[in-house]
Amino acid sequence: MTAPDQHHPTGAASTLLRLRRWTGPHRRWFVLMIVTASAAMLAQSFVPLVIGRVVDGPIRHHDRSGLLQLAALALVLGIAEAALFWARRRAMADAALGVETDIRRDLYAHIQRLPVSFHDRFPSGQLVSRFTSDLSTLRRFLGFGFVFLIANSVTTVVVLVLLLHIHLVLGMVVLAAMTPLVVGTRQFELRYSRDARRAQDLTGDLATSVEESALGIRVIKSYGRRPYMLRLFLGEAERLRGAEMRKLTTLGWFWALLEGVPQLVLAAVVGGGVLAVAHGSITLGGLVAFVTLYLRLIWPLISLGWLLAIMQEAASATRRIFEVLDTPPTILDPDVPAPAERGTAVRFDNVRFRFADAETDVLRGVDLEIRAGETMALVGAVGSGKTTLTALVPRLYDVTGGRLLLGGVDVRDLTLDQLRHAVTTAFEDATLFSASVRENLVLGRAGISDADVAEAIEVAQADFVHELPFGLETRIGEQGLSLSGGQRQRLARARAVLGRPRGRVIDDPRSAHDVHTQSHLESALRRVLSSTTALLVAHRPSTVLLADRVALLQDGRIAAVGTHRELLDTVPAYRELLAQSSELAPAGLAR
Ligand SMILES: Nc1ncnc2c1ncn2[C@@H]1O[C@H](COP(=O)(O)OP(=O)(O)O)[C@@H](O)[C@H]1O
Ligand SMILES: [Mg+2]
Repeated sequence: MTAPDQHHPTGAASTLLRLRRWTGPHRRWFVLMIVTASAAMLAQSFVPLVIGRVVDGPIRHHDRSGLLQLAALALVLGIAEAALFWARRRAMADAALGVETDIRRDLYAHIQRLPVSFHDRFPSGQLVSRFTSDLSTLRRFLGFGFVFLIANSVTTVVVLVLLLHIHLVLGMVVLAAMTPLVVGTRQFELRYSRDARRAQDLTGDLATSVEESALGIRVIKSYGRRPYMLRLFLGEAERLRGAEMRKLTTLGWFWALLEGVPQLVLAAVVGGGVLAVAHGSITLGGLVAFVTLYLRLIWPLISLGWLLAIMQEAASATRRIFEVLDTPPTILDPDVPAPAERGTAVRFDNVRFRFADAETDVLRGVDLEIRAGETMALVGAVGSGKTTLTALVPRLYDVTGGRLLLGGVDVRDLTLDQLRHAVTTAFEDATLFSASVRENLVLGRAGISDADVAEAIEVAQADFVHELPFGLETRIGEQGLSLSGGQRQRLARARAVLGRPRGRVIDDPRSAHDVHTQSHLESALRRVLSSTTALLVAHRPSTVLLADRVALLQDGRIAAVGTHRELLDTVPAYRELLAQSSELAPAGLAR
């Protein structure tokens, strides 16, 4: 999926105003930046007036002392400008970096709160690009573009007033020449904001591709897919290039306008000025001051081109960031939490579930009770909804119909902390983080001792960690030591069995182990299951045997519940299912 590509009608300014939440605390730095930048530019603007005075006074009258005074004034203005420049850079570092860091923090906290269903449909590269390129675009605007847009506008107005003051008619000529620039600016903003948005979305797509290729590099290489992947990637890179080219083309003609018009006006001003001097309506010094001052106006005008470009990009980056921030976290703590669950029994009460965007329900009225202390195995065909059903217990997704009760309390009436403390969930997917073995096992959970960790490692048969170069402190995961698939799974299992939750949900990996490993893993499971209420997705007869009862999931409903023996004797579908899986792991059907 690509992130939404629509072009928003709201203007750049009102979009950028939404950043007040973060810029507010840094307000005084922004004010300082604007004041120093404006003051520096104004200090520059007064230099031409001094020069004009030099021409009309000391130079005409060969007056040395007057010359020295005016030279000293020019020097002071120059030093003031340098000091103001320094102050602005200091303020910029604090304000822009501060805001960028604050937004990054809030954005991260928000995506952590967003439900799994958001992450299912939002490509990770689109998130990554919001954290990186969009935030730097914003920083560039806040630390630079924003300040100079204001400082340049202030300078433009002041210079125009001074020009009108020096010579009204020549000043009017300059003012009239601004009209095409204003019209051009409007056109430019509309086009550029659309082009910028497209380029940013394509940057996100590209990030997704790079990420997927890096994660899937083994698959790509071993299936000889390199040329194919390269072709796909080059296609995306080419589209991004096209979008960037469009931006530059738009910027190009606007820039030509910004460069060209002032030069034409310069010719008119010089020509008209010479006539005015001849008529005596302006002194020579006055004309020198006028022209030099006018030249000071050219820079703010030309820079307007890319300042507006930066502003449009920043507005579009802001929209992209708010698309995430405006997504409400739907799985939340209740307003009034129930005091606590009463016991660990889990009950599915006519539970229905449908994925967002899906056409049909995956679960169509599941009724199932797991009594306190009982281990329930869940069996069903591939794609029947076993993983989905287990994900409902810790509220990774919320039921779309019916109720799910823990200890007689609807899970939506418990706080997420209460719920996820009471029931731990272990999934098929053995995701390891770039951190030490110990950090990967504990994952920041409170109240877990070294003895607990040692026990979990033993139970999960993950003793290999002791042979790693730094034992439990060895860094693993994406930027650490590579582990084998089996080792990863054992660590994931050690993580799952760590701690003493009252309830457990285990989505057991389907991967085929040799019989020896399998029986070790099963004895590990037996140990942790004995002390809790558990729901265990099982694929093999030998795993099913760990459970007190078995539930068969079929067509989105629980088709049968009973002991393994009972189901084997009375439910043909159950027999068939286990017969299929026993081909993978011949652990024996009729034990
Ligand atoms: N994130 C998702 N979004 C949409 N559909 C999904 C998602 N995850 C799983 N499904 C669909 O829901 C059905 C059940 O999937 P799952 O619970 O993983 O099955 P099982 O674990 O029993 O193999 C499948 O048809 C699958 O395609
Ligand atoms: Mg599954």
